[in-house]
Amino acid sequence: MGFPVTRLRRLRGYPVLRDMVQETRLDASRFVLPLFIRPGRGERRPIASMPGHAQLSVDEALKEALRARQVGVGAVILFGIPEAKDAQGSAAWAEDGVIPRAVRALREGVPELLVITDVCLCEYTDHGHCGVVRRRGEDWTVDNDATLELLAREAVTHARAGAQVVAPSDMMDGRVGAIRAALDADGHGEVPILSYAAKYASAYYGPFREAAQGTPQFGDRRGYQMDPANGGEALREVALDLEEGADLVMVKPALPCLDVVRRVRDAFPGVPLAAYQVSGEFAMLKAAAERGWLDERRAALEALTAIRRAGADIIISYYALEAARWLRG
Ligand code: PBG
Ligand code: ZN
Repeated sequence: MGFPVTRLRRLRGYPVLRDMVQETRLDASRFVLPLFIRPGRGERRPIASMPGHAQLSVDEALKEALRARQVGVGAVILFGIPEAKDAQGSAAWAEDGVIPRAVRALREGVPELLVITDVCLCEYTDHGHCGVVRRRGEDWTVDNDATLELLAREAVTHARAGAQVVAPSDMMDGRVGAIRAALDADGHGEVPILSYAAKYASAYYGPFREAAQGTPQFGDRRGYQMDPANGGEALREVALDLEEGADLVMVKPALPCLDVVRRVRDAFPGVPLAAYQVSGEFAMLKAAAERGWLDERRAALEALTAIRRAGADIIISYYALEAARWLRG
């Protein structure tokens, strides 16, 4: 050859050398496993569109959390399915509700696992929206400011039960500030807020709606969640949440928004950043794997690695437990 060739392949010749030059490595301690908590005892109701996942009663959730911790998973994030729903979602701040009971059980039974709670109203409202719905002429809208107070009550209820991080996912404006003030006033100044800062109105949440039974009974969430066409707006969302006191921020969904993960990473160095590999991302991989169309382990680990490479510190994933096992070899 008449010209000098840069030989990048030299570094790919041996597994041990490849490991040595690897830029991104997955680590189970950065994984967060979502769990769906329902009333009852000994209950495990499989979620058809999310193979391996089920709605769990508190005792079953404890077993799952122990399994997760055994393989090094860092945290769980809890979603509640209450006994009864109403227009305000009042089960969300019941002191003996499914989430406070699960939090107490997990803190006691798996103390090394971090317990995060999702703070939203859609699992608790009979209409399935993330806030209070009010009429607007012939139309309807989710009332931003009336919702803030309810979210704050829910967050305080979780903190009183021992939640170590609260994660508001509703996308109301000002909710981080309202939750921060309420937590501080109730003596929970040490509880961090992980804000779902850039949460898109995504079709990839489909299976979750079955899992958490929070499908909107009318309309959709585009009046409060972000338009997938917008990237710069995500930076405004993150900046506002940080101003209001968010300690960690999230981009959701993950794979369709890797560019957003990267932009947030670069614009806010030093801010802990989470990305949520959502139910639809999980279901796609599972469905293709079941048909034998993808090597599940390689495809899932590749997706998780890409999320880390894009700049996420923390990954919320339905693969958390399986991936943690795979990483142990
Ligand atoms: C509820 C909530 C949703 C998800 C997390 N919290 C659904 C939604 O906003 O419609 C999605 C998670 C997933 O799809 O895995 N606010
Ligand atoms: Zn919601």
